[in-house]
Amino acid sequence: MIVLCTGCRSGFGLLIAVHAAKAGHTVYAGLRDLSTKGDLVEAARGLDVRPVQLDVTDAAQRAAVVEAIVSEHGRIDALVNNAGVALGGFQEQVAEDELRHLFDVNVFAPWALTKLCLPHLRAQREGVVINITSMSGRQAMPGLGAYAGSKFALEGFSEALRHEMRPFGVRVVLVEPGPFETDIMGRNRTIAADAETTGGPYAVYMRRMEGLLDKMKDRMGDPREVADLVVRLLDDPSPRLRYPLGPGVSARLWARRVLPFEAVERILERVVGF
Ligand SMILES: NC(=O)c1ccc[n+]([C@@H]2O[C@H](COP(=O)([O-])OP(=O)(O)OC[C@H]3O[C@@H](n4cnc5c(N)ncnc54)[C@H](OP(=O)(O)O)[C@@H]3O)[C@@H](O)[C@H]2O)c1
Repeated sequence: MIVLCTGCRSGFGLLIAVHAAKAGHTVYAGLRDLSTKGDLVEAARGLDVRPVQLDVTDAAQRAAVVEAIVSEHGRIDALVNNAGVALGGFQEQVAEDELRHLFDVNVFAPWALTKLCLPHLRAQREGVVINITSMSGRQAMPGLGAYAGSKFALEGFSEALRHEMRPFGVRVVLVEPGPFETDIMGRNRTIAADAETTGGPYAVYMRRMEGLLDKMKDRMGDPREVADLVVRLLDDPSPRLRYPLGPGVSARLWARRVLPFEAVERILERVVGF
């Protein structure tokens, strides 16, 4: 299969590129900045992984990559919208430009890239779009509202697209990880500038949320699980719409399914004091 995956410098993207190529696929591995391809090239030695310049927010780069793939192979079989950014901070603290950047990367870019691939997938009458959303696309936590909003949006687009593409044989799948140890928790950890202050009305809640995150550090998932799942989904002829996975995810989904929202609220109140 000819696969395009975005955000392959680190984390899930790097592993998806490598594992998909090990499974025999040709992978175009998008990088926001091609000069950061070192780790990917090292991990993909001897495999058919082709690093490409693809800042997903750049319309010209998006068009150039899809055009290059289709002109070389005459087809594109799979798009994995993996590139993403996070943003911590309470909503009063999030600035409009921060929110817009978050939605540019997490929502508008996958929408636009998918739109470029659809005519080819549709004409082939087969192929798959895999969108990496998050547990935050199913349940919104305090201090992560902007991120949750972007992932809820991507979930909504994807759910409708799944229906729209059914008659054309194109599969649309959501992978919804819980917490996994990748660079989004370290090098790429981003907090709204206004939330960086130590004082203010939210400081105590921020500290509690950070305390909760610290406790989770030892219990984070192995990102290879996500990559393996994505590779399995590439040629699954009849996948489900949603694939939640990761530590604590089943319990959270169970609570969401069987408990009224107010009960979840009370649990959060007990754990973090909201
Ligand atoms: N790890 C988790 O716990 C978790 C949980 C749920 C969902 N997710 C989702 O999983 C996806 C991958 O994240 P990750 O956990 O693997 O974190 P990561 O290691 O930080 O990877 C994110 C990747 O996205 C790239 N990226 C950011 N902005 C981009 C842009 N404008 N154009 C192209 N690429 C861009 C980053 O490149 P640079 O580093 O060069 O900016 C990086 O390669 C994201 O969509 C994230 O929301 C992660």
